[in-house]
Amino acid sequence: MPDKARLVVLISGTGTNLQAILDACRIGTLPADVAAVVSNKSDAFGLERARTAGVPAVARPKPKEQDRRAYDAQLADLVGSYRPDWIILAGWMRVLSDNFLSRFPNRVINLHPALPGTFPGTHAIERAFEAFGKGEIRETGVMVHLVPDEGVDSGPVLLQEAVPISAADTLATLEARIHTVEHRLLVQAIASVIHPSPDPAP
Ligand code: GAR
Repeated sequence: MPDKARLVVLISGTGTNLQAILDACRIGTLPADVAAVVSNKSDAFGLERARTAGVPAVARPKPKEQDRRAYDAQLADLVGSYRPDWIILAGWMRVLSDNFLSRFPNRVINLHPALPGTFPGTHAIERAFEAFGKGEIRETGVMVHLVPDEGVDSGPVLLQEAVPISAADTLATLEARIHTVEHRLLVQAIASVIHPSPDPAP
């Protein structure tokens, strides 16, 4: 097996988590190379980050008239052409169908800004902050998990970390804290699948 894993990173927006991956690859904390970055949004700033890092950056918006599954099959062809060991969903805001997932079984990793089973989908941090305001929760968190099927932000958890919310928080301070945790946890989770630690001796 080659030393470095090949990653394809799928994004839809700013790409601060992509940046964390690119930085970790550059300084060597992650034994991996980003082979390509693909965005479903042509104006995603993350594409710029990829170009700056010298990584192929591809915009692949879904045409309105195209069926979701046909789009996913073509997306799988594109991603597969970069021969990835792992596909990282770092702020990729489309649910992937089996037309994509069946091509990369156990090879797709998703980041979500909430704890397992909570606030799936979009605006997870905002919804957690609202739930805190109503006294329903006292903490939220971050998880990184495998994507086995079409479930939204669900699947076997690789790493998770709770983030407490305090009365002094605003949505902005909570978001900032969660993003800081995300940048660290995502890199750690990718490192853990690239080089799984051996089982402890019985
Ligand atoms: C991150 O907070 C990520 O967890 C979230 O999108 C943001 C992307 O930020 N993903 C989801 O909500 C998935 N359901 P970034 O573009 O700065 O990395």
